[in-house]
Amino acid sequence: ASSASAGPARARVLVASNRGPVSYTLRDDGALVAKRGGGGLVSGLSAIGPDTDAVWVCAALGDGDREAVRRLDGRLDPADTGGQRVRMLGIPPEVYADAYNGVANSTLWFVHHLLYQTPLEPSFGPEFRAQWASYEAYNRAFAEALADEAADGAAVLVQDYHLALVPGMLRALRPDLSIGHFSHTPWAPVDYFRLLPDDIARQLLRGILGADRAAFLTHRWADAFTACCAELLGGTGKTRVGVHGLGADADFLRERAHRPDVDERIATLREQIGRAPDGSRRRTVVRVDRTELSKNIVRGLLAYRQLLVDHPEWRERVAHVAFAYPSRQDLAVYRDYTAEVQRVADEINTEFGTYGWTPVVLHVKDDFARSLAAYRLADVALVNPIRDGMNLVAKEIPVVSERGCALVLSREAGAYEELGEDALVINPYDISATATALHDALSLPDGDRAERTKRLAAAATALPPQRWFLDQLEALREG
Ligand code: G6P
Repeated sequence: ASSASAGPARARVLVASNRGPVSYTLRDDGALVAKRGGGGLVSGLSAIGPDTDAVWVCAALGDGDREAVRRLDGRLDPADTGGQRVRMLGIPPEVYADAYNGVANSTLWFVHHLLYQTPLEPSFGPEFRAQWASYEAYNRAFAEALADEAADGAAVLVQDYHLALVPGMLRALRPDLSIGHFSHTPWAPVDYFRLLPDDIARQLLRGILGADRAAFLTHRWADAFTACCAELLGGTGKTRVGVHGLGADADFLRERAHRPDVDERIATLREQIGRAPDGSRRRTVVRVDRTELSKNIVRGLLAYRQLLVDHPEWRERVAHVAFAYPSRQDLAVYRDYTAEVQRVADEINTEFGTYGWTPVVLHVKDDFARSLAAYRLADVALVNPIRDGMNLVAKEIPVVSERGCALVLSREAGAYEELGEDALVINPYDISATATALHDALSLPDGDRAERTKRLAAAATALPPQRWFLDQLEALREG
């Protein structure tokens, strides 16, 4: 397996994830346009830094990516990746669809975020077994590429639920490597994890246990993983279990949030938010998410509606700025959810809106500069996922907000472990309690809000992405 490869020098450090730092779309004129990916994983890993010789192995997500792989033989142009060495794998489309949409996002994501709704889901029959075979093939393609790219004794950091089998497969191919696995999601409680067929549940755990070290965003998720291993396999064997709570990148955010494109969007947003009838500043409740079932956007909107019912004094004096960016649109359940978010927002605007007041300012087109503009304007941040590995938005808003921002935070977000003390904490299913928390957050005295924001920002930036990455590497090498 250690035969010299013909390509560029083999790497001492490798990372592997489904989504890479960029994804391509193919323009009508045949040009490929690179765009940075969303989600916490890419934000964290982008800190690897172009200075290292690290290689990032990722999958081609769609037709644009596959075309880029064809043209560049899988090695992306550093001009597109911020200097990062990236090897992109052109997995066959049917295999990829089964592995990514079928197993990773419709099954493993659902298990770890407790998203199933009876009586139809879950059920595992022949169709799922076929998808599982694709998931194995897709994991094998990663393991083989990593084995090919890695120098003797290299460190390999494998990311997330898409690649749970890679550590075990890679260990078999290259026993010389140090292998880490990192989960960016929650880990399911034992009874919920056991919804999966027994053989597959065991295969997933054994796959991760192929790593020298399995790491998580919080102690809660690490403990859940350990409990699953104890129940299904009798323990975690020789694999060490660790925790690294990815934080926000304060320097990057503060600089990026004050560029001219963000200032421009602030002006537009201010117009959309408007002013209260007495001319005073209208308060803003901000949320920014992928349109993702686990983010609980609809209950968030219903809680905001409840606030307007329970506390009519806020009508005309507050606006809810809600950004819900498209995600995983190949899945019908995500498309339906997007439509539902839109419908509920429209309903609230019809029920309460006036000539000079749009109660919900909803945007669904992804725009990072506008997200930062909303962060700056936020008086209240609403982060109410029903379950979330970490939630970086909860950490980013306190860093960027200009007047200080009260955080309404779900106790089911990983960020709760670090931010719980200074947030207004909610049970994400409890719409009445969320409405009350929104009222309390809007009513916080300025001094109190400023103090809390300062402490939130400090906790949120304690482990910036670069440090987060290097800590994992160090912990892995320490053995
Ligand atoms: C979560 C997952 C990441 C994923 C991201 C975006 O943060 O942990 O692995 O990349 O969501 O989802 P997507 O399916 O678009 O990659």
